[in-house]
Amino acid sequence: MVIFETERLIIRKFSIDDWKDLYEYLSDESVVKYEPYDVLSEEACRQEAKNRSENPAFLAVCLKESSKLIGNLYFEQQGPKEFLTWELGYVFNPAYQHKGYATESCREIIRYAFEHFKAHRIIAMCNPENSASWRLMERLQMRREGYFKKKAFFKRDEKGEPIWHDSYEYGLLAEEYHKK
Ligand SMILES: CC(C)(COP(=O)(O)OP(=O)(O)OC[C@H]1O[C@@H](n2cnc3c(N)ncnc32)[C@H](O)[C@@H]1OP(=O)(O)O)[C@@H](O)C(=O)NCCC(=O)NCCS
Repeated sequence: MVIFETERLIIRKFSIDDWKDLYEYLSDESVVKYEPYDVLSEEACRQEAKNRSENPAFLAVCLKESSKLIGNLYFEQQGPKEFLTWELGYVFNPAYQHKGYATESCREIIRYAFEHFKAHRIIAMCNPENSASWRLMERLQMRREGYFKKKAFFKRDEKGEPIWHDSYEYGLLAEEYHKK
């Protein structure tokens, strides 16, 4: 089922058959470096594709010309429903990075959220070291709203101690979006 269509992309729900394309990038250390999980095995990607096919927060981003799945978005409402706040996340296959696909797909989701969900705020977070991520947020007109010291940890060191990392939080309000 098609959900969104942009100039070059189809953005749709995951299906269990997506595991191979998922494995292509989730098995890559450089891709999961700032994610809350480690590289995934083939078996884990089969399970992940199944989980994502049952979770509407995950969206598969595919090339229109070949249907290849090249990355994914995460888009989920946060906090009390009436706060109308959604969090955006994204992970792309390195072979398809630096081509504007992440920007193109995120723009479409943001447009949809402000126009159809009547979102009040869209937020995104990243490790400040992850400049590709915050550059993407800034291309999307998001504003840096906060710098949180040692906000979270996703991984532990060899002694089992948490590896705390700092976090940027970015936001975009409906009024800012509509003013553009
Ligand atoms: C974060 C991530 C999605 C950003 O992807 P990206 O490829 O840099 O973003 P885009 O696809 O929008 O590409 C934009 C870049 O391509 C360039 N580009 C090339 N052709 C383009 C085109 N036709 N249209 C727009 N931009 C284009 C832009 O100039 C820009 O480069 P710059 O960042 O050096 O200025 C990607 O780095 C990623 O998946 N990282 C691993 C997972 C991760 O860390 N996720 C975030 C966790 S918080």
